[in-house]
Amino acid sequence: MFRSVARSAAGKHLLRRGYATESVPDRKVAVLGAAGGIGQPLALLMKLNPLVSRLALYDIANTPGVAADVSHINTRSEVEGFVGEDQLGKALEGSDVVIIPAGVPRKPGMTRDDLFNINAGIVKGLCEAIAKYCPHALVNMISNPVNSTVPIAAEVFKKAGTYDEKKLFGVTTLDVVRAKTFYAGKAKVPVADVNVPVVGGHAGITILPLFSQATPSANLPEDVVVALTKRTQDGGTEVVEAKAGKGSATLSMAYAGAIFADACLKGLNGVPDVVECSFVQSTVTELPFFASKVKLGKNGVEEVLGLGPLSDFEKEGLEKLKPELKSSIEKGIKFANQS
Ligand code: NAD
Ligand code: LMR
Repeated sequence: MFRSVARSAAGKHLLRRGYATESVPDRKVAVLGAAGGIGQPLALLMKLNPLVSRLALYDIANTPGVAADVSHINTRSEVEGFVGEDQLGKALEGSDVVIIPAGVPRKPGMTRDDLFNINAGIVKGLCEAIAKYCPHALVNMISNPVNSTVPIAAEVFKKAGTYDEKKLFGVTTLDVVRAKTFYAGKAKVPVADVNVPVVGGHAGITILPLFSQATPSANLPEDVVVALTKRTQDGGTEVVEAKAGKGSATLSMAYAGAIFADACLKGLNGVPDVVECSFVQSTVTELPFFASKVKLGKNGVEEVLGLGPLSDFEKEGLEKLKPELKSSIEKGIKFANQS
């Protein structure tokens, strides 16, 4: 179904984004974990996105208030709140994109893998419901450990007979956001002009920013590149420690999640050349899942792009990350198949 937005402010915005026509398709986005630290600002940002026509906010508690609040904003989408498992099906039905920031965040001293025991079960349950109620939706997985929750989702969908590797994404956009910010600071270039691919996974050394491919190019000395790499890999921990027990990145994550969901929606709507990094099923390396640049299209992943030329430091980082990433992927697959 298409809704004309020709004379609205939203319509003007879309035309700026490169639309050739004056119509934009209806798109439903569901946020699971919408009352949480990420969920609330992400709900706000998705409410501001003119590509969204229906916004479903689901959580196990507190969604009616969040939904009522967000629903008063005078933008295109209709907002509905859903609370508790009984309402999960209704929240998901008809969704084009499902974003999952449900689950517990880290406290200082924890790794993302320490969240596995709680979050693996949460993600599994939510993915079983997605397979039932909106099997064709693009799934944007934010819940940690992403290196394991994405393989869990894939196994759940395989068991349900609904798996489409083009539609499952681990959201690693925050790593790219951080790499861009930190690089711009050191290279003294305008941050809005910066591009840096980040590949691998989303935990510690599995996060591999490719500063050798950063643009605008700045020829930074090796010790600066090493320090930038470490800061990007430890960006999540930097926030966890600064929040001192009150959780992990929420606002920057909501921003990153909104950018990635927007890219998915643009791809679905046929906007050409939409490219973002994401942790997806991949043949870029020997690992079954890997984050790299991905071209998004009308069916989700249109093309998983290769790594491009790597510096010796990046080649070394790539080899170092593989054992940890492999073991996190295998842990997810094992969990999904034994429980
Ligand atoms: P939070 O505790 O503030 O919010 C989580 C929300 O999930 C809560 O509202 C909770 O009620 C809800 N929830 C729990 N079980 C649920 C279920 N079965 N169904 C629906 N909702 C459920 O945590 P947060 O700070 O928003 O972080 C959420 C997750 O995102 C964590 O796992 C965190 O590690 C992860 N995260 C990932 C990235 C990334 O880059 N991918 C970045 C930041 C945080
Ligand atoms: C992040 O990168 O900020 C998230 O993965 C949250 C965390 O635990 O670090």
